[in-house]
Amino acid sequence: MEILHEFANNIWTVDGPVVRDMGIWFTTRMTIVKLSNGAVWISSPVPASFTTLEQISKLGDVRYLVAATPRHVWRLERWHTLFPNAELWASRPTLFTLQQGHLPITGYLSDAPAHAWSADFDQMEFKGNPLLSEVLFFHKETHTVLLDDIIQRTPPAQRNALADVILKLEGAPYPDGAVGLDMRMTFIDRGLARRSLEKLLSWDFEKLIIAHGACFESDAKQYVKRAFKWLEK
Ligand SMILES: [Fe+2]
Repeated sequence: MEILHEFANNIWTVDGPVVRDMGIWFTTRMTIVKLSNGAVWISSPVPASFTTLEQISKLGDVRYLVAATPRHVWRLERWHTLFPNAELWASRPTLFTLQQGHLPITGYLSDAPAHAWSADFDQMEFKGNPLLSEVLFFHKETHTVLLDDIIQRTPPAQRNALADVILKLEGAPYPDGAVGLDMRMTFIDRGLARRSLEKLLSWDFEKLIIAHGACFESDAKQYVKRAFKWLEK
């Protein structure tokens, strides 16, 4: 059963179910942050038990539900019924966005943090890819970067032989994972992508939370540099 894991001060993660997308099984994870104004902010919400929902509610008022990547927008719907007063924030719609359209989105995420969480986070859209307008967050207090889909580390227990072959071909085998080949190929504007990488590396981070695979509790910047080596000129 999923439990609330304290990742760092004021940040918790919850591992959700294993899901299948484009032929590969992925582990899933959501991130819960208690903002300095007392509100609870949740990124990439996953299905959760009553016990987990109760634990989250004890942290404070759930005010913000965030889908920072097009592939996670659909997850907002159920959570919106659970927390109808929470604002919904999503990454800019693309052809990759799952189930957009009917959700009462408060705003689309950009390079500027919303006022409500600007004391806690910096944020940036990783540009250069017309399909994936993923937005990354930097939690200033704990020097943690939150990233959803660009980097993935698919654990062996969740894979089958076909997935093994696909991930090897993608250049993102376990345990390192990386930015998969399909993802790399859709970064059409490499100049814009390089500028985004520079911005990401300018953040003073040591920890990294990813939505698919094991997170990093230290030395995350070195890992991110390796994962984006393909972007070098
Ligand atoms: Fe994802």
